[in-house]
Amino acid sequence: MRIWRASPAWPCCAGSHEAGIRSVGLADQPPDRYNPRVEKFRISGPRRLEGAVRISGAKNAALPAFAAALLTEEPVRLANVPKVADLRTMGKLLTSIGADVAREDGEVVIHARTIRSPQAPYDLVKTMRASVLVLGPLLARVGEAKASLPGGCAIGVRPINYHIAAFQQMGAEVSLEHGDVEAKATRLRGADFLFDQVSVTGTENAMLAAVLADGTTRLRNAAREPEVVNLAEMLQKMGAKISGAGETEIVIEGVTRLHGARHDIIPDRIEAGTYAAAAAATGGNVVLEGADASIFMAMLSKLSQMGAVVDIHPGAIRVRRDGPLERCDVSTSPYPGFPTDLQAQILTLATQAQGVSTIAENIFENRFQHVPELARMGARIRVDGRRAFVEGPSRLNGATVMATDLRASASLVIAGLLAEGTTTVDRIYHLDRGYDHMEEKLNALGARVERVS
Ligand code: EPU
Repeated sequence: MRIWRASPAWPCCAGSHEAGIRSVGLADQPPDRYNPRVEKFRISGPRRLEGAVRISGAKNAALPAFAAALLTEEPVRLANVPKVADLRTMGKLLTSIGADVAREDGEVVIHARTIRSPQAPYDLVKTMRASVLVLGPLLARVGEAKASLPGGCAIGVRPINYHIAAFQQMGAEVSLEHGDVEAKATRLRGADFLFDQVSVTGTENAMLAAVLADGTTRLRNAAREPEVVNLAEMLQKMGAKISGAGETEIVIEGVTRLHGARHDIIPDRIEAGTYAAAAAATGGNVVLEGADASIFMAMLSKLSQMGAVVDIHPGAIRVRRDGPLERCDVSTSPYPGFPTDLQAQILTLATQAQGVSTIAENIFENRFQHVPELARMGARIRVDGRRAFVEGPSRLNGATVMATDLRASASLVIAGLLAEGTTTVDRIYHLDRGYDHMEEKLNALGARVERVS
């Protein structure tokens, strides 16, 4: 892996979509192309990716940032918000709570002057679990919050017991009735809370509640993900007192009031990692513009070990591969370990590597659903509990495959780029939840991906 200092001029990039001034409610704008019932990707392969792609803002940083805007009656401006379905859902949720949400000059402005209805209804929670992130800020600001309890999902059971326990430790009374979780507190008080297991949104929700609590909160075994750090930085700009974000212990001194702020969402390390995997898989040469290498070194060093050439420049990363790929061992873990959200993509890459790669999934109990679909395309993979053994290199053939969750879908798209013939990836509404204009970005890199009904 090479690290460069000078910033060369990159070729013109794909996927820049902001234009002029627009001011529309986010909730009103799910365009037809996101109709979940009908859409598929038809991918003609094999194709080698070459060129530059602009990396969007991180969905998983923007979601808690939207929730944080509920903490103040002043407007909050967010820059670099990706155009993905989950953020439209979050916009809808904030609107139903009472906030005004609009895009202006390419930024999202959220103004939660008043809280009309402090709850996240079932319809929204069932489509997006991150809806529960409004619980912390609502509880802190108006002393009550209600959300439908999210059920299990495609990748695992995913309970929210740590979120609830943290609120209880801060003095909230929490009840569970008819599938809803309801929390109440006149004023939250600072608490010392230990997460039994690292939880990203759990840490964020607890932090969102603690910023307006009475006294000091200590979050131990906290998530260290860059998205947690980005949220802490936003809250600090709003007047919160937080130290230790990015470490295992976060300390929050509660304040009585927060104010408006402008904040930049960090680049999406998972989107960047997905295009990096696609570049390496196709023997391509791709520049990831705007990507921040420092927050996805786990992926970049695996790619480099496998035989890809990774050049890190300020504000851009080039990933290319000319020679054969070597097998790898990957084991997912909380940051700074290898992210579970890139497990499916590197597994597809491993189908092209010499020898048997082992991929261990340690975060979610059911995150190998892409495996049977990849097998239908000719991949040789055996799953034993939480480990997948991938034998390569395999020649993949186009097939009709079904996307089951966001990242599994991305792995199938990469497989489609590699496969001989036509691959149809069904149910791409999963992809649209978290990838900003994916087919446009891929096509600008030389892929042939068509969105079909
Ligand atoms: N867990 C519990 N109880 C809790 C919370 C978590 O048992 O109260 C368990 C989970 O079941 C899981 C582990 O703890 O086994 C870690 O889950 P975590 O809470 O960290 O996951 P999350 O916060 O629900 C976020 C991302 C996911 C990403 C995970 C892990 C957001 C909105 N979502 O989920 O992103 O996979 O962290 O890094 O930030 C995606 O973008 O595709 C995605 C699924």
